[in-house]
Amino acid sequence: MSEKNTGGLRGQAVGQTSVSTVGAEGHNLTYRGYGIGDLAEKATFEEVAYLLLYGKLPNQAELDGYKGRLKGIRDLPDALKAVLEKIPANTHPMDVMRTGCSMLGTLEPETDFGQQYDITDRLLSAFPGILCYWYRFSKDGTRISTDTGADDIAGHFLQMLNGKKPSELLQKAMNASLVLYAEHEFNASTFACRVCSATLSDFYSSITTGIGTLRGPLHGGANEAAMALLEHLDGFGSIDNARKELLNMLARKEKIMGFGHAVYKISDPRSPVIKEWAKNLAGHVGDPKRYYELSEMVEKTMWDEKKLFPNLDFYSASCYHFMGIPTALFTPIFVMSRTSGWAAHIMEQRANNKLIRPNAEYTGEKARAFVSIENR
Ligand code: COA
Repeated sequence: MSEKNTGGLRGQAVGQTSVSTVGAEGHNLTYRGYGIGDLAEKATFEEVAYLLLYGKLPNQAELDGYKGRLKGIRDLPDALKAVLEKIPANTHPMDVMRTGCSMLGTLEPETDFGQQYDITDRLLSAFPGILCYWYRFSKDGTRISTDTGADDIAGHFLQMLNGKKPSELLQKAMNASLVLYAEHEFNASTFACRVCSATLSDFYSSITTGIGTLRGPLHGGANEAAMALLEHLDGFGSIDNARKELLNMLARKEKIMGFGHAVYKISDPRSPVIKEWAKNLAGHVGDPKRYYELSEMVEKTMWDEKKLFPNLDFYSASCYHFMGIPTALFTPIFVMSRTSGWAAHIMEQRANNKLIRPNAEYTGEKARAFVSIENR
């Protein structure tokens, strides 16, 4: 590689966006100019989705109208339910999200880009149902209703998952987590969505591209992998023994999931917010306190040993765990939220489109003569 090409497109601006930025210092995340701390504390996910899609915070009437619209389109077509029922129980739920999105795209295809706002609403409304319908059916054969009557997506999801209304605390925690996951500039999955939509492909294909890209453990899959790490460390009994194992893992040059970041170099501004939620929920719901103490030990050790900090995915893992959410559903929740950011980027790409087609630095053979098969 040339000196300029550092790999992974790090540090290179590959397009323009007005949706969000990690800030010039690389740790001041804003959505449409509003700080992530304020949004996570003061706004609901629906307000944030509206902000990302329409570029402004909704007033009360606009928010009520938007929430009403989302609430009215939660049903899943019978043909989609039939497909979900056929997906094996041991399938990774991210594959369910990808398949559900694709199937919906065959039943309600985008025939005109003018439908893009309606399709975004539909996907935001349908994804929680797609996930929970499959999850509950594959687990115990229950065909749940996706008509919960819940006022927002956070409550709707938790109600379908657990079969009962969530407590206010759980609903608030879920809401904050959806706000934190909603958008993140030119991250891998968003960039992938933009590449797909820049070919003038349809909306569902672009979102499916995002889901496939988010699935990997270096990106969205890290929240699930971080939980696996905590469970692994917990197997060593005491916090002290867990710390020894963590040091061994570092000595073996293993990646510690939920740490480090491609853009942030000193901290992830979303991490303190989700850490606070994990702390609030620790020992409160689901599991005893020890996963929180374990997480704090991992955070301190990673900083002392490697100067690496937790990203959003690290404390999201214990937070969701304390909420009683099955680990395999962690990354699909990311999809439920990030669809808002992906959609805003797809719309922005379409509004000023240019096919994304970079050059490659060729490292292969020089041009050579063709060799016929009998002479090889
Ligand atoms: N655990 C252990 N070491 C890590 C690490 C981690 N989570 N993240 C980075 N490092 C190390 C790298 O091994 C590298 O060490 P080296 O210079 O000795 O080779 C150094 O820190 C620089 O990291 P690098 O891989 O160049 O950073 P990157 O920008 O390419 O990678 C991530 C960013 C996110 C891919 C990387 O930090 C990672 O894999 N994290 C774990 C997965 C994760 O949490 N992803 C979610 C991101 S929001």
